[in-house]
Amino acid sequence: MSRLTVIASGKGGVGKTTLAANLAACLADRGKKVLAVDCDVCLKNLDIVFGLSDSHIWDISDVFAGRCGLEDALVKTDGNRSLYVLPAPLRTPEDPHALTEFILKTVKEILCSGQYDHVILDCPSGAGRGIEDYFFKNANVIVVATPDVTSIHDAQAIAAAAYAKGASVSLVVNRINAKAVEEKKAPDIDEMIDTVGIRLFGLIPEDKKTSEALNSGVLTVDTKRARSKKAYENIAARTDGVFTELYKFW
Ligand SMILES: Nc1ncnc2c1ncn2[C@@H]1O[C@H](COP(=O)(O)OP(=O)(O)OP(=O)(O)O)[C@@H](O)[C@H]1O
Ligand SMILES: [Mg+2]
Repeated sequence: MSRLTVIASGKGGVGKTTLAANLAACLADRGKKVLAVDCDVCLKNLDIVFGLSDSHIWDISDVFAGRCGLEDALVKTDGNRSLYVLPAPLRTPEDPHALTEFILKTVKEILCSGQYDHVILDCPSGAGRGIEDYFFKNANVIVVATPDVTSIHDAQAIAAAAYAKGASVSLVVNRINAKAVEEKKAPDIDEMIDTVGIRLFGLIPEDKKTSEALNSGVLTVDTKRARSKKAYENIAARTDGVFTELYKFW
């Protein structure tokens, strides 16, 4: 059976898709066979972060409509990584709820097939039906938050929903600016984690290479001197069940 990791957040734009893609790549670099699924059926961009938006014809909505099979819609990433992406449609589907139901069914089948060591789901932001359905029992739900009060507040709500579904929940704090924390211009990370009350899984620094990578169609972890690379590697090791220290800022 594959290990399922669900990347979620309350607030949008906190770095879920960036984490999903880079985590998937780091797991593949650990020799694992990985599938990353874009569950954001209305605002897809996982394929863009992978630099694959021009590399596929089919997506999950074509499988749903019977225009192709699941294998046709899977995109193998370049290079030696055993890393596959299942893209979401370019345009908002007629019935997003029905497509979400189909993705859930497909993910269950993929998990049961045991074809992949890891399946990573990149969820849309927000709470409620359609997202909470992705909080499979026994999944590792990673709630992503940035160091600001609203993001933390929303992370707590999402975590509560995931706990209620029987998932294992952990927190990744993204875009930490160590200098701003030191100068007390950003919240203290320890205090923030105590407030949220979720097991801490990873810390990712603010990294200007992230947008540089995005604009060049490569992953941050494949960009030279990306300071966040170590952070993604640490999160991947933990996802793979290997205890690893958190990223060190100081
Ligand atoms: N550690 C980081 N340092 C700097 N920029 C980052 C970092 N992580 C993500 N970003 C940037 O933040 C923006 C939002 O990232 P991303 O699309 O991954 O967020 P998201 O949570 O998936 O958004 P949405 O809720 O819309 O799906 C992107 O421009 C991305 O390049
Ligand atoms: Mg996203």
